[in-house]
Amino acid sequence: MKNKRVLVVGSGGRCHAIVDALSRSPQVMKIYCAPGNAGIARQAECVNIGVTDVEALVEFAKSNSIDLTVVGPEASLAVGITDRFQQEGLRIFGPTKAAAQIESSKEFAKRLMAKYDIPTASYEAFEEFEPAWEYVKGRPLPAVIKYDGLAAGKGVVVAESYEEAEAALKDMLLDESFGKGRVVVEEFLDGPEFSFMCVASGEKVYPLAMAQDHKRAYEGDKGPNTGGMGAYSPVPFVTEEVREFALEKIMRPTAKAMVAEGVPFVGVLYGGLILTTEGPKVIEFNARFGDPETEVVLPRLESDIYDLFDAAIDQRDCATEWSKEAMLGVVLASKGYPGSYGKGAEIKGSESVEATVYHMGTAEREGKLLTAGGRVMMVVGRGESLAEAREMAHRSIDKIECESLFHRRDIGHKVLD
Ligand code: AMP
Ligand code: GLY
Repeated sequence: MKNKRVLVVGSGGRCHAIVDALSRSPQVMKIYCAPGNAGIARQAECVNIGVTDVEALVEFAKSNSIDLTVVGPEASLAVGITDRFQQEGLRIFGPTKAAAQIESSKEFAKRLMAKYDIPTASYEAFEEFEPAWEYVKGRPLPAVIKYDGLAAGKGVVVAESYEEAEAALKDMLLDESFGKGRVVVEEFLDGPEFSFMCVASGEKVYPLAMAQDHKRAYEGDKGPNTGGMGAYSPVPFVTEEVREFALEKIMRPTAKAMVAEGVPFVGVLYGGLILTTEGPKVIEFNARFGDPETEVVLPRLESDIYDLFDAAIDQRDCATEWSKEAMLGVVLASKGYPGSYGKGAEIKGSESVEATVYHMGTAEREGKLLTAGGRVMMVVGRGESLAEAREMAHRSIDKIECESLFHRRDIGHKVLD
């Protein structure tokens, strides 16, 4: 029956893709999004509540008879949105604050993986600059240095030189530009990366389709790390055998380990994996849908996403069905991103393209669509092959006019060129 009322918390491309998938559900009657953006506003009713304003969100869910709340960003999880909703007897899809530590604390994740034999890079944790620097100097390059805490993907430096490594350690441990913290120094893993998102519910794991992100800002995987500049799904080098290994040796054991540790995980368990010569290994876990991976994965979901969320909350079985179609999405970002950038430039033509356009950071004023963030929109092409999907994405981007955007034209290059 089409009678469910859903609240999606968040405002980026990931939330637009979640809203889009929910709008295809035969059960969903009404979708709200807090706070949403100009694109989401075409498919959901946007409400002006911030993603960490948990009390206002609880109040909204109660007074609007919301059947299910779906959490997008980690910031909401980090302030305990799930714990609060559960206290109030409200249904919510997303892990508790304690379970979300698998993303918010690198050390928590590392300890868990060591204890339960989940394949990952070896590591040491440090709180002081001197011992960290001594350790790094005595190891081969590149040095992988991670700030332990939420840093939205920017707290990781893969240093190719000792000077760069020293600067990163100073930045994280002496200058306190990230706040007082710890760092984890890791073994460098060599191989192609892929993102394996699973809906997890206690010991149950429902795998989603594979995707690959492109984290660097510029073509040829150059430049600074970003939130992600493009993605595609499926991922040809993830063979059935690799997928099976990743599911049975990484994702399922991790879900079980969380239960054994007393912090059962309900939500999207995102495995950021590297395919090494010894098989896939974990570089990071996230406690939420990936962005921009979600924008190429959810359009391939043919079964009802509401049912999947619902099943996860109740720990019941749920089969998912996936389209064979390929999706490839390119992020249009504001010039200057991931550094400082301007806002308010007009975007024309994005409404009438063939590709699906998910809005990431947009606003609408006086009927004009404007840039309002670092990552502005994701243009997702589809086709029988990734090459076809890429062509559609590029054809569509060529029709979008905005002077202050840039994008990478090489999304998918690792498997297409
Ligand atoms: P993370 O935020 O942990 O995903 O790290 C950001 C990026 O740094 C990853 O997507 C990888 O490209 C790279 N990276 C992180 N850890 C490692 C590692 N141990 N070995 C190789 N590359 C890594
Ligand atoms: N695409 C990487 C992330 O969502 O963290």
